[in-house]
Amino acid sequence: MSGIVSVNHPLLLHHLAILRSRTTKPLEFRQQIHCISTLLAVKATEDLPVNLVSIETPLAATEASEMSLAVAIVPILRAGLGMVDAMLGLLPDAEVWHLGIYRDEATSRPVEYYSKLPDSDPCEVAYVLDPMLATGGSVLAAIESLQNWGCPDIRLISIIASQPGIDRVHSMFPHVRIVVAAIDPELNADNYIVPGLGDAGDRFFNTERW
Ligand code: PRP
Ligand code: URA
Repeated sequence: MSGIVSVNHPLLLHHLAILRSRTTKPLEFRQQIHCISTLLAVKATEDLPVNLVSIETPLAATEASEMSLAVAIVPILRAGLGMVDAMLGLLPDAEVWHLGIYRDEATSRPVEYYSKLPDSDPCEVAYVLDPMLATGGSVLAAIESLQNWGCPDIRLISIIASQPGIDRVHSMFPHVRIVVAAIDPELNADNYIVPGLGDAGDRFFNTERW
């Protein structure tokens, strides 16, 4: 599965407005990240295969569906951490692999500082989580790591992506499916997404310094 999907569910748009607002406080910001991540995860997982299994309800034997795919959830630290609980709520058996990547403030280039990929047995599907896709540098670094590692199906869930960032990631990895809540038109001189929501990690972890 490939392509870029911008989810326009009315509930998602409602929660996104709260998330973007400068007056939203950290507690509510975290709640909105969780809620939006759940809605995005439903879309991003809609094509996962299921197996038929036999089960027994209290009343009768019946056939039901079971998902037994090996799924990895790959949050990009820090801000991607805020999306993990929502994913695990839907995929409780998924593995979580952490990648630490931050943007150098002077160059906007990604700096990789932590990687917790397992030693063996790559998953069948990996979901990279990062609420913000700005220049695309951090996400590209994560996708490259997972591809080199051997993940056959890599997908990205972001909340807000810039159009230039989407174009960059898609031109390099056209097979990677990208699910987002919004695509914003541009980046400012500091490579922040406009209108965006500011610094997602700082707002989530309450480390903003103005
Ligand atoms: C932010 C964001 C992305 C990255 C996006 O992380 O969470 O990881 O920037 O920018 P890019 O597309 O231009 O690479 P940041 O560097 O602020 O780190 P943090 O999550 O630890 O705050
Ligand atoms: N990181 C963020 O958190 N926000 C942006 O707009 C760009 C990078």
